Amino acid sequence: MTNKETNLQFRLAARPVGMVKDSDWQQVEEPLRELADGEMLVKVLYLSLDPAMRGWMNDAKSYIRPVGIGEVMRAGGIGVVVESKSSRFAVGDYVQGGTGVQRYWIGPADDKSVGFRKVDAKLAPLPTYLNTLGMPGLTAYFGLIESGQPKAGETVVVSGAAGAVGQTVGQVAKQLGCRVVGIAGGTEKCDFVVDQLGFDACIDYKGGSVKDGLKQHCPDGVDVYFDNVGGEILDTVLTRINMKARIVICGAISQYNNTTPVKGPANYLSLLVNRARMEGIVVFDYADRYHLGIAQLGQWMKEGKIHSKEDIVQGLENFPQALNMLFEGKNFGKLVLQVASE
Ligand SMILES: NC(=O)c1ccc[n+]([C@@H]2O[C@H](COP(=O)([O-])OP(=O)(O)OC[C@H]3O[C@@H](n4cnc5c(N)ncnc54)[C@H](OP(=O)(O)O)[C@@H]3O)[C@@H](O)[C@H]2O)c1
Repeated sequence: MTNKETNLQFRLAARPVGMVKDSDWQQVEEPLRELADGEMLVKVLYLSLDPAMRGWMNDAKSYIRPVGIGEVMRAGGIGVVVESKSSRFAVGDYVQGGTGVQRYWIGPADDKSVGFRKVDAKLAPLPTYLNTLGMPGLTAYFGLIESGQPKAGETVVVSGAAGAVGQTVGQVAKQLGCRVVGIAGGTEKCDFVVDQLGFDACIDYKGGSVKDGLKQHCPDGVDVYFDNVGGEILDTVLTRINMKARIVICGAISQYNNTTPVKGPANYLSLLVNRARMEGIVVFDYADRYHLGIAQLGQWMKEGKIHSKEDIVQGLENFPQALNMLFEGKNFGKLVLQVASE
């Protein structure tokens, strides 16, 4: 890079307590350096904003190491190669990988911790690769099928129904012949999953009682519960499960900003009574079969059987506020931050 382009990075300045504050970030702007052999420069176009990012900011044991203080915040992204001294990627290639929250990514093209791969911008809009054809879609697909093991005719309930993972869980369950009931915050989100995505019903947990909603919309009980939120909603669903029900613990967003210990399910003995099980899943465990999930989801999308809804916020400088939207229910669909135009 020979001109005066600079990189803008969001680095973790402090470990947040409760909701993330602006002071938990340090914005650093610095000139781009020259490339070494084997390196490339990627202009970041879109960043995936995920609830998991809140967990990565804690100094706690998890399925992945925490982001260190002073490090660029971890994030998945899609960008375009603007300079390359690598034989792996050429200028103009669209690539997906762990770009981090920054305007440019620079480094060895084969950096395994980033895991860049090419994406085909002609096959689908780029943000779709961060949603249905990316990590959330694969979480939904493998988590539901492998852990939830839904059978045609069964009732599947999913929370966070209008969000990234939830929208695909419900649509895949419909493809498998299940009755699907979503749980989401607000009538707009509930109407969307029923009218646009084909769910059978949706319970607005902000507008009424989840317990009453489950009684009304799951008259035969719940066979599979795909849990994205944890807390009270998980506890309530536990009171309505069937014999041999499967509960997929995908996430617990209601607990991620707790300043008190995580609230566990008080009604867990329902598992005993119903010989049911609860299982945690992590999408990375299915990595060797991602291509199979993407092929099936891509096929259903091509046939118009499932849809991908993204909520795109503009501007890297808006990253802190955009991330918090996830925890305030302000995103409607997969939350994506557009850093630059294509
Ligand atoms: N295990 C894995 O491998 C894996 C992979 C990806 C994601 N996840 C998990 O899956 C879940 C969904 O992630 P996503 O990317 O699809 O996010 P998302 O659903 O697109 O966005 C988060 C949504 O959570 C809901 N929410 C926020 N605070 C809540 C609260 N206190 N109680 C109930 N609902 C609340 C909001 O929807 P409403 O407006 O409807 O409340 C919000 O829009 C998260 O828990 C995430 O950590 C797990």
